[in-house]
Amino acid sequence: MAKVYEALRRAEEERKRKVSGDVAPAPAVDWDPTPQTAPKPPRRISSLLGLGGKRPDRGITAADANKRRIALLEPDSFIAEQFRTLRSRIDSMAAEAPINTIAITSANAGEGKSNVAINLAIVTAMSVDRRVLLIDCDMRRPTIYRSLGVEGQNGLAEVLMGRCSADEAIVKLEGTSLDVMGVRLQPQNPSELLASSEMGRLLGDLSERYDRIILDTPATLGLPDSKIVAGLSDAYLMVVRAGDTAREDVESALEVLDRRRAVGVVLNGAEMGHERYAYY
Ligand SMILES: Nc1ncnc2c1ncn2[C@@H]1O[C@H](COP(=O)(O)OP(=O)(O)OP(=O)(O)O)[C@@H](O)[C@H]1O
Ligand SMILES: [Mg+2]
Repeated sequence: MAKVYEALRRAEEERKRKVSGDVAPAPAVDWDPTPQTAPKPPRRISSLLGLGGKRPDRGITAADANKRRIALLEPDSFIAEQFRTLRSRIDSMAAEAPINTIAITSANAGEGKSNVAINLAIVTAMSVDRRVLLIDCDMRRPTIYRSLGVEGQNGLAEVLMGRCSADEAIVKLEGTSLDVMGVRLQPQNPSELLASSEMGRLLGDLSERYDRIILDTPATLGLPDSKIVAGLSDAYLMVVRAGDTAREDVESALEVLDRRRAVGVVLNGAEMGHERYAYY
């Protein structure tokens, strides 16, 4: 984790040096989620960075939805390139131990999990001959169907409740080889459904059909859902919102999820140029 804090510090220096605001915030990736042994930095990452740590507006507008699909709409952009780097890193790790299912987690709400899940899924689906499925496992505040602008007739809950088949809840994203299973029905008991044997069976069946399955989850702290989904997955990624996520929250979430299964930490919202990114 020490690298994450160092990356945040460099990102902040870069941000201060920047003269105009024309570089969009982009994710950076740290690939060493081993336990922290260095002296502890200040309690909150926001104080380390000197940023406000304000929560983003949670409503989803059409423009917001478009921004989330940046890897699709602007494949040559710097951000899309960052997600391709992320995909390549995951692919390299998958060569050592298979990563068929990967959960996207973060300690708290609004740190960018869905954004990362969508863009990672899109760039992964852009690889040649790859079957990719994105599943919205946030049945409390689902965003995937809406963010992608697709109209699914069914969703994960209906499948887990036996009301429809998996195929009846999968939508193909036009112009890509990405399939999506979102949420339509929002059940009263999302945790129980995710922990049910049906969920394990569903992922087992889908793993036979897809090369990679990306699972979006709710916040880890305070809810069992993301622990359940990460536990069913081969690996998980943790999203950290630069200037907002508390360091102790990241550590608590890594404890909850079992840090040995973490394949990386994504620094979301860190602003940095091409040259700087090479350091991470
Ligand atoms: N790098 C970024 N730059 C600018 N805006 C971002 C970035 N990442 C996420 N956002 C915005 O922040 C908000 C929250 O992002 P997102 O929905 O991906 O977070 P989340 O962790 O999935 O939230 P939740 O916990 O509610 O599911 C959205 O409005 C999104 O568009
Ligand atoms: Mg989300």
